Amino acid sequence: MEYKELICNQHNLFGTISVPGDKSISHRAIMFGAVSRGETIVRNFLFGADCLSTISCFRKLGVRIEQEQNEIKIYGEGWNGLKEPSSILDVGNSGTTTRLMLGILAGRPFHSVVIGDDSIAKRPMNRVVLPLRKMGATINGREKGNYTPIAIQGGSPLKSITYELPVASAQVKSCLLLAGLQADGETTIIEPTATRDHTERMIQHFGGELSVQNNRITVKGNQQLTGTTIDVPGDISSAAYFMVAAAIMENSEVILKNVGLNPTRTGIIDVLIKMGADITIEKDTNTSFEPVGTVTVRNSTLKGIEISGDLIPRLIDELPIIALLATQADGKTIIKNAEELKVKETNRIDAVAKELSRLGANILPTDDGMIITGKTPLHGETVSSHGDHRIGMMLGIASLICKDKVTLEGYEAIEVSYPNFFEDLQSLIK
Ligand code: S3P
Repeated sequence: MEYKELICNQHNLFGTISVPGDKSISHRAIMFGAVSRGETIVRNFLFGADCLSTISCFRKLGVRIEQEQNEIKIYGEGWNGLKEPSSILDVGNSGTTTRLMLGILAGRPFHSVVIGDDSIAKRPMNRVVLPLRKMGATINGREKGNYTPIAIQGGSPLKSITYELPVASAQVKSCLLLAGLQADGETTIIEPTATRDHTERMIQHFGGELSVQNNRITVKGNQQLTGTTIDVPGDISSAAYFMVAAAIMENSEVILKNVGLNPTRTGIIDVLIKMGADITIEKDTNTSFEPVGTVTVRNSTLKGIEISGDLIPRLIDELPIIALLATQADGKTIIKNAEELKVKETNRIDAVAKELSRLGANILPTDDGMIITGKTPLHGETVSSHGDHRIGMMLGIASLICKDKVTLEGYEAIEVSYPNFFEDLQSLIK
């Protein structure tokens, strides 16, 4: 565990930055490139630890993946280009790699074993293993397949299914769409609430057929995809830290360029607007595959709001930084229907409540969210990332408004999605 003394007692942030590439889209670009025929070029790929785990797994599966300057080139040979790996596929800390890759492996005719770190070993996999078994896959793992290590027997042809998701999860949806692309017949996934649709967009971008009707997504089976070029937008989940920092620090103005503005991900912007933030959005016009634009945020007076329902999947990864935002808003912010936070890289309800309380926030954890009462001044303490990148970055922003020293335990977790987070933050401090 490494310790870092964070930057504290700051009064304004000022400047322009481009946050690194989107994590969800970077993972998918590698996976879709790997199972397609022909060359795929990925620009603005996120070189964070999670996406590097995806590259490493697909290299072990026999796919040639090369880095040329800032681009990644994937030399796909179609689904059959994937070969039985001679060693374990290690996903590191990455839930997206685990769940999406299981959907690919379920349809392949070979044996493979998936393992990850201590956090991955605690994350539920039944949500993908059970429906994959319904499709005919043979999958075993710890506690009847709910936890890694997980072994995929391979070799049984997949049958299509119609499946209603019990939880709103883009990872589960994407896993089943990847399996569905290899199955016989049409697979339909029904979502309780819309979740990020990067997989749907990507299937079409790689020349695949897919139809979406309200909350029903249908893919044809036995589809071959074709390699393409992908420009990964900046990650709105990374941009969120600077949006919130600018909103809560006096005299601040931060301009974020090339931010992904996919409507299934922009819940953070809706929340900022509802709380009274000074925010402007300028959409770029020449985008096709995923919308992008420039987001400018300035300091303003904020008020507490309720965050619940359909909004939750549109900002699920931003809830830790939204909790910090709420500590600087007048009145109560109530976060509900967010029980999924308990099964992220760490239990984010407990971790956020514990660490922000240590800094002086008034925050009450609940069964499915939290209640935060603001506005409260924050003070220095030693805090922990709980090995979770998003908790680490949230605390990196919190310390800016703490009067005295904040030390972060486990700051290396930030590598997962934003290796240069502190350098970018430093560049905005004048
Ligand atoms: C992701 C989906 C979300 C999100 C995760 C990335 C994805 O997880 O929290 O960071 O890339 O599909 P769930 O699908 O489990 O909600």
